[in-house]
Amino acid sequence: MAAAPEPVRDIATLGSIELLTPKPQQSLWYFRDVLGMEVAHTDGNSVYLRGYGDFAVSTLKLTGAKHSGVGTITWRAASPAALQRRARALEACGFGVRWSENDFGRGPTYHFRDPDGHSMGVYYEEQKYVAPDDLRSTLKNLPQKYTARGAAVRRSDHLALLCKDVATNRRFAQELLGFQLRETILFEKGSFELGSWLSPNAVHHQLAYVVDVKGANGRLHHISMWVDQREDVLRAADVLTENGIFIEAGPSKHNNSQAFYLYSYEPGGNRVEIYSGSYLVLSPDWEPVTWDEDERGTGVYWGGALPESFIQYATPDIAQAAPVGRDVPVFDPA
Ligand SMILES: [Fe+2]
Repeated sequence: MAAAPEPVRDIATLGSIELLTPKPQQSLWYFRDVLGMEVAHTDGNSVYLRGYGDFAVSTLKLTGAKHSGVGTITWRAASPAALQRRARALEACGFGVRWSENDFGRGPTYHFRDPDGHSMGVYYEEQKYVAPDDLRSTLKNLPQKYTARGAAVRRSDHLALLCKDVATNRRFAQELLGFQLRETILFEKGSFELGSWLSPNAVHHQLAYVVDVKGANGRLHHISMWVDQREDVLRAADVLTENGIFIEAGPSKHNNSQAFYLYSYEPGGNRVEIYSGSYLVLSPDWEPVTWDEDERGTGVYWGGALPESFIQYATPDIAQAAPVGRDVPVFDPA
């Protein structure tokens, strides 16, 4: 039997997510005042935000734009050499775009696109957060004090992207980025991959790919913010409701990932999840959990079924923007 190829371990973690919003002031209010994040930096059209438990100076970049959706998603490499290796591999397979130097809080970044056209980057150097006096925690290992403002999210956790072809993008993440496949939904006797959940580390998933039922490219399903306990998710539902924010689904519990969830739309239209629970994966030989039509059900373990909008709505809203046609290389390393 041939030995399995040595796994790629060049990506350490999700670094930051850039969220595009046509209502930047209202979106900033949502993340700062309702979710309780802090503003770390402002630069032109962008505001850089952080949760109180984020060790990096910023994990969420909010950028004013004509349409909602996701901008550039960055991943932190495990070392300077790992960054160079991934840049070479991505370039060799035709996914590379360019190097950049100057985004706040991060060093040289190699930009690339996934097969569906989402903008991504990989970097190593990262600015650690040093709290100003009014935000310094009395707990030495906490980067910033717990302010208890709004839903008081701790950190950015993951994101879910829509794509035309889940299998192609999932294989890209596994083989070129080195992510481990954690769970997958296979319908039609295994021939149709509806969604896959992947991670470069022990967190259950930092990236999900789900099929875009409208056949577009490059869209966002949701970003997700972590809170420490299920009670915090329930409290977030109260906070969101008191602030007039539409709650699309939850609080309830997923079957896939075992996570406790709550989905709302920020004022710019992007779906944001408040998330807790789930499970860690520490096994190097993890075998992906697969779900068929019957096992998947409505995607919940208990509680109300996810609404139809959860499948139909994503950003940018397809009614507002034409599908993005991009020349992307076919990824077929086998
Ligand atoms: Fe999620």
